[in-house]
Amino acid sequence: MLKTLEELERRRDAARAGGGPKRVEAQHAKGRLTARERLDILLDPGSFEELDMYVEHNCVDFGMAEQKIPGDGVVTGSGTINGRLVFVFSQDFTVFGGSLSERHAQKICKIMDMAMKVGAPVIGLNDSGGARIQEGVASLGGYAEVFQRNVLASGVVPQISLIMGPCAGGAVYSPAMTDYIYMVKDSSYMFVTGPDVVKTVTNEIVTQEELGGAITHTTKSGVADVAMEDDVDALLRTRLFFDFLPLNNRDGAPYRPSADDPARIEPSLDTLVPPSANKPYDMHELIRKVADEGEFFELQPSHAGNIIIGLARIEGHTVGIVANQPMVLAGCLDINSSKKAGRFVRFCDAFSIPIVTFVDVPGFLPGVAQEHNGIIKHGAKLLFAYAEATVPKITVITRKAYGGAYDVMASKHLRGDLNYAWPTAEIAVMGAKGAVEIIFRGKSPEEIAERTREYEARFANPFVAAAKGFVDEVIMPHSTRKRIAVGLQKLRTKRLENPWKKHDNIPL
Ligand code: HXC
Repeated sequence: MLKTLEELERRRDAARAGGGPKRVEAQHAKGRLTARERLDILLDPGSFEELDMYVEHNCVDFGMAEQKIPGDGVVTGSGTINGRLVFVFSQDFTVFGGSLSERHAQKICKIMDMAMKVGAPVIGLNDSGGARIQEGVASLGGYAEVFQRNVLASGVVPQISLIMGPCAGGAVYSPAMTDYIYMVKDSSYMFVTGPDVVKTVTNEIVTQEELGGAITHTTKSGVADVAMEDDVDALLRTRLFFDFLPLNNRDGAPYRPSADDPARIEPSLDTLVPPSANKPYDMHELIRKVADEGEFFELQPSHAGNIIIGLARIEGHTVGIVANQPMVLAGCLDINSSKKAGRFVRFCDAFSIPIVTFVDVPGFLPGVAQEHNGIIKHGAKLLFAYAEATVPKITVITRKAYGGAYDVMASKHLRGDLNYAWPTAEIAVMGAKGAVEIIFRGKSPEEIAERTREYEARFANPFVAAAKGFVDEVIMPHSTRKRIAVGLQKLRTKRLENPWKKHDNIPL
């Protein structure tokens, strides 16, 4: 018996050793942790239960029959984060460069299938040289099996991808189909074709970091959500983020008791909006003053800064925040901000997270580039997302709500449940100056000035909209948190269903 137990220990040690001390050292030398070290930080101590530790590849080509390492380049299983179940896979770069073989893919698929059966999120730690080159099409098939599961799991259980090393070629498409992607600065990259292929095909010379590093994807492309400082930062912040999420689409977001008074009054909000309509202010201030303990997990903070998205809690319950940011492009909606917020609204709706929208939007961004790149279709994404969402929707207009953007930003007409406006709100087709220059074209400057004042007096306030019932109540800025908290309480039992359909046809 003792011998059998020793044999088990020996086999376990062999699997835990991964690609051996030299490769582990090389991994550490790059500033990266190993697959198991990462799981130790991500999961509650002692909670990890590994599966398929002894799985080996089945490849016999290119001398692979003699090279077998138990686990085959990925550590899979389940554990808890602050006591809540999560399924995980962590690719082990020390074993064949973390490359994906048929068996490696089967391991990932197994935990995804279990996560779906029991209704728990999946977190993938990606660090891989891509398809196991020796296996050819078997590996490609493995990827596609994972892709298929990503799609079926989308909207059923939250899926989070951490990119902690290479992620190239078609391998990028699994993370791309998950809900959130976090990358590690100076240590991870994602691209469909790397710098060498780019140079051959287009003659462009570019580094890996410039082409697909964490900064590139969290600023320019918007492919990734947050750039983390290092492995430890990425893993610890993922734990924080996880606490906001429901386990699945039938579960409802977790409740975390808060000592922050939901009726807290914030007198400073009464002077947040500057007297001049063209002067910006930081919408983050409002968000932090409304959220429990000022805590806000912002997503895509460096991409399309004209809209702010992220998760917070009000009275202990998770809410999704969407807010125009007057500090960037005056808070206009453009292609990137519409795509960014549209996907987030759909995430919240899929997982029953109420949406709080703060509006200060002068309209859609004008420009040839915007039109030629499809602002019509991309802007429609956000409109579509808000209109189809059935979760509680509370909207607060702080200042401008002009034109089509007024409609888009969770207006009453798109089934906003509670639509509030501050007394500083201006709800109109457009700004007074632009409006008067159109309807009084050719008039003298004096008359234009006079008419502008008249237009402002008539429309630069929330009361025309309130008189029509498009705004439910004009509220004091200092009581915003209280009003939202009471509203969310009221809406906790909201039931609303869209007509039956196979699925919608959102303008992609
Ligand atoms: C098999 C691989 C591998 C792969 C790396 N290794 N990538 N083994 N298949 N795809 C092995 C190496 O042979 C090496 O083994 C070990 O992993 C570490 O690799 P190094 O090259 O020494 O590491 P590094 O210098 O850090 O470079 C990392 C790398 C490079 C940039 C990822 O390994 C690389 O370019 N790999 C190939 C990437 C690639 O072209 N993949 C296929 C993409 S196509 P030893 O024994 O020496 O430690 C694809 C299609 C997916 O993925 C399609 C899905 C639909």
